[in-house]
Amino acid sequence: MTIKTDEGQACLAEFGRYLGDIGYTDLFHSFPQMPFRYKETDAFFGRARSLLPRDLRIAVRLLALREAVGAEEVEGSGLGEYLSVLLGPNGILERNPSSGTYRTKAVRLLGYDGLLLAVSAPSRGKPIGAYFGDDSIKLTRHLVGEAGQTALDCCCGSGIQSLHLARRGLNVVGVDIQELPIRLARFNSIINRLQDRTRFIHGDLMQLTLPDCFDVIVSNPPLLPIPNTLSYDVVGHGGEFGWKVTEAVLDKVAASSNGVTRGVIVGMCLGTRDEPEIVSWAQDAAARRGMSLTLFLGGTCSASALNEAMAVSSWFTTGARFGDSMAELSRMTRERNADRAFSFVLKALKDGDRPGKATVVPLYRGFRDSGTWYVT
Ligand SMILES: C[S@@+](CC[C@H](N)C(=O)[O-])C[C@H]1O[C@@H](n2cnc3c(N)ncnc32)[C@H](O)[C@@H]1O
Repeated sequence: MTIKTDEGQACLAEFGRYLGDIGYTDLFHSFPQMPFRYKETDAFFGRARSLLPRDLRIAVRLLALREAVGAEEVEGSGLGEYLSVLLGPNGILERNPSSGTYRTKAVRLLGYDGLLLAVSAPSRGKPIGAYFGDDSIKLTRHLVGEAGQTALDCCCGSGIQSLHLARRGLNVVGVDIQELPIRLARFNSIINRLQDRTRFIHGDLMQLTLPDCFDVIVSNPPLLPIPNTLSYDVVGHGGEFGWKVTEAVLDKVAASSNGVTRGVIVGMCLGTRDEPEIVSWAQDAAARRGMSLTLFLGGTCSASALNEAMAVSSWFTTGARFGDSMAELSRMTRERNADRAFSFVLKALKDGDRPGKATVVPLYRGFRDSGTWYVT
């Protein structure tokens, strides 16, 4: 790859595309299996950093290469705007007073679809909660909206959807209940030069009073069906059925004073081959709010495969014992006669042409366990 310009957005976009091309986003998720990819990418960062604008060069050294960078270099780099976002008692940059350097271990910089994103690095026990995964990617592929419109990104995490929308020319407000992801979202908007079109608010979506006239409302909420007895990170805990926060997002679409508001939400549910639980819920949710819903049912896997993944994740992030989690999850699926999990994309239209109705579009072919998110 050749970097054609040494400044600003074009360079970043090319940089991000390159990382996507070599599978860097995949690598983030299969981190134990593919360490060589880190090396490849680090080598690229190493080569590219001399071509980047000065402030970004420091960001890359700190976040991508995880170098300890001298305080004087950092403070005199024009990175001031970033530093105020990353430092502080709950920040992700640590200043070592004896060596006079800054360093972070909790964050990785990755490239996806022409954007640079600082997100959580895999670290056991103390996740900083800035999630990035297949569902994040899935939602970016279904985003709607045109330049000049306004968007609300509910549960924005480190801002991937907000930044995609802002890049299209929308003015975006992102909301997240955790502080660190909000800081990273601000940081990400700065390094992608999109801060003029984004505003990030730290708070609980269910309690915040927000403007009610957005053209577009998007969300990748915590979406996993988790029994209340299981300890699970706020990033994924969607309540017993997986749609606890989705309800609140649909309420925002329904409460909009803008009649054409469109909502796009990704989610996951349990069920059987013939009856994903989400179908009857969606019909009810549409009827209750008088809105049109279209439910695209995506990939599917066995409920036990999902349970295993959730039990591992619960161990990784909260330390819960795998066996105890599996017992709770199996009990839940047994009680509901659920043997499959489905991913879905839910599109909502406040004043659509089928008010009060949900249209279901199954996209999966067959029931092989090939992962839940890779069906378009
Ligand atoms: C699956 S992550 C998605 C993050 C990002 N939008 C993405 O696609 O990668 C879900 C996010 O929802 C946030 N969240 C959970 N409950 C919330 C609430 N009540 N209000 C606002 N954000 C919430 C979590 O902190 C987490 O960042």
